[in-house]
Amino acid sequence: MVAVDGPSGSGKSTVSRRLATALDARYLDTGAMYRAVTWGVIRAGVPLSDPAAVAAVVAGLSLEIGTDPSAPFVRVDGVSVDGPIRGAEVTAHVSAVASVAAVRQQLVAQQRAIIADAGRIVVEGRDIGTVVAPDASLKVYLTASAEARAQRRSLENAADVAATQADLARRDKIDSSRAVDPLTQAEDAVVLDTTAMGIDEAVARLRELLDTRV
Ligand code: C5P
Repeated sequence: MVAVDGPSGSGKSTVSRRLATALDARYLDTGAMYRAVTWGVIRAGVPLSDPAAVAAVVAGLSLEIGTDPSAPFVRVDGVSVDGPIRGAEVTAHVSAVASVAAVRQQLVAQQRAIIADAGRIVVEGRDIGTVVAPDASLKVYLTASAEARAQRRSLENAADVAATQADLARRDKIDSSRAVDPLTQAEDAVVLDTTAMGIDEAVARLRELLDTRV
C-alpha cells in the first residue's frame, strides 16, 4: 500500500492515479470522499458552521467510491457527483466539513475498510501516512511551490491564477491547522518536490523507490 499525501496542486492526484495504473493496483482518492460528503451537506441545507448538524447529515449519507484508476466514480445516495464535487461551491466548503471530527472518523473508517479489501492500492489525501494507514509500505509527501500549484490548478479549472493561489492558501491553512488529523508530513515519508518535475518523472521516481523497498 502506498500513501501519497500533500497539499492541493502538488500533483498528488495525477501522480497517484498513474502510479496505480503502472503497478496494476487500485486507487483511492480520499479528497473525493470529503468533497462528496460536502456536496451532501450542501444539498441538505444545514448550516456549515454547525458541526453537529454537519456530522448528522454525513452519518446518514451512503457514499460509494470507485477504486479502478482508469474509471473513477463517486456517488452519494446513488447520485453520481463526479462533476459537482469539483465545482466552486464544494471547493469553497470542503475544508470546513473535513475539519469536523465525527466526519473524519466516519470517512477514515470507510477508507480503512476499502484499503483492507483492496490488496495493492495507492491512496492519496492529507492524513494517509499519518492517520489512515501508518503502516503503509511507502509514504510519499508530494509538494511544490505555491506558484506552481496555483498555476496547475488554474489550468485545470480555467480560473484566474491569483484567485486560485489565494484559494489554495486558504484551504492549506485550514487543512494544516485543524485540530483533528491536520495535513502534516509523516516522519518516515519520502518528500518529493514536483515544482520542476514532470508527471512521468515523479511516477518513475516513486516506482524506483518502491523497487528498492520490496
Ligand atoms: O485532494 P482534494 O483537494 O480534492 O481534497 C479536498 C479537501 O478535502 C482538502 O482541502 C481537505 O480539506 C480535505 N481532505 C482531508 N483529508 C484527506 C483528503 C482531503 O481533509 N485525506
